[in-house]
Amino acid sequence: MPPECLVADAESLQRAGDILRAGGLVAFATETVYGLGADATNDLAVASIFAAKGRPTFNPLIVHLPDIAAAREHATFTPVAERLAAAFWPGGLTLVLPRRADTPLSLLVSAGLDTVALRVPAHETAQALLKAARRPIAAPSANASGKVSPTEAAHVMESLGHAGALKLVLDAGPCRLGLESTVIGFPAAGPTLLRPGAIARDAIEAVIGFRLLEAAPLSGETGRASPGQLASHYAPDVVLRLNATHSEGDEVLLGFGPDMPAVDGLNLSTTGDLEEAAAHLFAMLRQLDEGGRPIAIMPIPETGLGEAINDRLRRAAAPRDQL
Ligand code: TXA
Ligand code: MG
Repeated sequence: MPPECLVADAESLQRAGDILRAGGLVAFATETVYGLGADATNDLAVASIFAAKGRPTFNPLIVHLPDIAAAREHATFTPVAERLAAAFWPGGLTLVLPRRADTPLSLLVSAGLDTVALRVPAHETAQALLKAARRPIAAPSANASGKVSPTEAAHVMESLGHAGALKLVLDAGPCRLGLESTVIGFPAAGPTLLRPGAIARDAIEAVIGFRLLEAAPLSGETGRASPGQLASHYAPDVVLRLNATHSEGDEVLLGFGPDMPAVDGLNLSTTGDLEEAAAHLFAMLRQLDEGGRPIAIMPIPETGLGEAINDRLRRAAAPRDQL
């Protein structure tokens, strides 16, 4: 049976909490993208996330908590992690920290690593679901593995509507930020940007007062330490061409800014606003992908949220055999 898709209200949230406590999956809105949630303390429930997404089991999951105090029950915070949590939680930031020995979180959320990724989401639906479930919620983006993340409930239904373990999609409209959370790790070398995302690097560096380290370039086994860094990810079915000033052949153009030529396509932000572009990115990629024509994409500046947008576009355009 396909999942139900209900507007997030007191009644559907109560049902969702019951489903999660019984080991089922619920997709829900966050301010970044829609998540595919399970009780993070239930091994079987967490395993069914990997099955529903077709996600490689070496790729660990983010655990969502209602507040910092709840997060401290599961991981050891460094002083810098404390500062970042105080500055950006609730919000679009994920911290990868050493697991506490006494955490009840399923080992599967860490995929064999001794760390766990934690996030306190700001969205009222995510917060209400955490309250209704009374459990930490493991939730990757609610899309088939390697595909474009969902920023609307309809995207979840398209991508995972056939996944038997998914019982309910909580619809709270389009996601405000539209890009996945920024992921920061704390290896011995120092705070490291594992995935650029909804919170720009500058904002994070302004809080900690120094530059973040870069995630090591990927090859072989190291690709598994932060698997979201896989070269091909967030990928539409059609071919993408980046840094295009105009479309060629039967391409449609995904534009940015006021200088987009008047051709077939969509504009991420006619005013050149990177936040607006981030919020539109995945929905527009999906829409153009459905047309089946190759997509040419105009250059996006590398500043602010542009770093995360370009990261997603590079992965979306990467050769698929690198998945
Ligand atoms: O905005 C978001 O982050 C959304 C919402 C639902 O919270 N979630 C999301 O989850 O994007 P997912 O699973 O699609 O991406 C999680 C990223 C992956 O790149 C994963 O490899 C990384 O976080 N990650 C999770 N746990 C990790 C760990 N222990 N060490 C290193 N990377 C980790
Ligand atoms: Mg994802």
